[in-house]
Amino acid sequence: MRKTIAVMTSGGDSPGMNAATRAVVRTAILNGAKIFGVYNGYRGLLENDMIEMNRRSVSDIIQRGGTILGTARSQEFMTPEGRAKAAENLRERGIEGIVVIGGDGSLRGAQCLADEQNIAVVGLPGTIDNDIWGMDYTIGSDTASNTIIDAINKLRDTASAHRRIAILEVMGRHSGWLALITGMSGGAEYILVPEDSFDLDKIAAEIRAMYDENQKRYVLIVVAEGAGSAIEIGMKLEEKTGIDTRASVLGHIQRGGSPTVIDRVYASVLGEKATLALLSGVSNVVYGIQHGGIVNVNLYDAVTKKKQLDPEYIRMAKVLA
Ligand code: F6P
Repeated sequence: MRKTIAVMTSGGDSPGMNAATRAVVRTAILNGAKIFGVYNGYRGLLENDMIEMNRRSVSDIIQRGGTILGTARSQEFMTPEGRAKAAENLRERGIEGIVVIGGDGSLRGAQCLADEQNIAVVGLPGTIDNDIWGMDYTIGSDTASNTIIDAINKLRDTASAHRRIAILEVMGRHSGWLALITGMSGGAEYILVPEDSFDLDKIAAEIRAMYDENQKRYVLIVVAEGAGSAIEIGMKLEEKTGIDTRASVLGHIQRGGSPTVIDRVYASVLGEKATLALLSGVSNVVYGIQHGGIVNVNLYDAVTKKKQLDPEYIRMAKVLA
């Protein structure tokens, strides 16, 4: 059994990271282990910026977005020398393993730390992108989806008032999952994702016909940032169709907010699971949710294999538009 571990949040923050951190801390303490919180992700690991935590360290945070530990991107940690320095800081405190809550880039860093420095790592998928291979959920993706659908509902009102084309750009980095799931939920006429090609001339002709032939009141388009810029695509569509078009970029609003029940519960369940595993000697795995159950995915697979969008969802989105 390991007796001293740490927890950190890394990469883009996501709603639910605090719920996961809370579960890690309380599970560790309940099992008689010492638990350190690392501030500001890998930068804090390098700067030896960490603190021993207790039950009260994580009081009153389950409902809060963001991350009380902070997060940051660290170029130095991307080097073997940086990882050696980070590992030294952990060993000096007797820390035997670390729970890393973050996205694919953060989990990739954890993999390097484990391989090069023999530090035990267990990952949790903390990202709104839902782009981690081997699982169909990531902590924060549900809250972000609900933030987006609220924006879509508001856009429908104003687009219909003006008979406009409304195009909304959402996050997801190289994944189209947020755009696909919210576009479907919002009844978008078009959903543009990096995983599927699209022809703007064809879309423009179809929209023009909708307006001319069946008096279409408005059109809603959701575009994933990895598929293009809503502003540029909107300008091209307005030029091609002659229809008033307005673009909105939701940006970092998608990263904030009080986590939904799903994000709070899954983050807590995964936090407990990851901690028990780490304490029991497990390393190099990522715990996630697949079809509603807990899965553990080999860390190397999680960071090297690319998650695909469900082609059925892509097909259905076109049918239901
Ligand atoms: O990975 C989460 C994410 O929100 C992506 O969807 C987005 O492209 C990126 O982070 C933005 O990164 P930053 O917060 O560093 O601008």
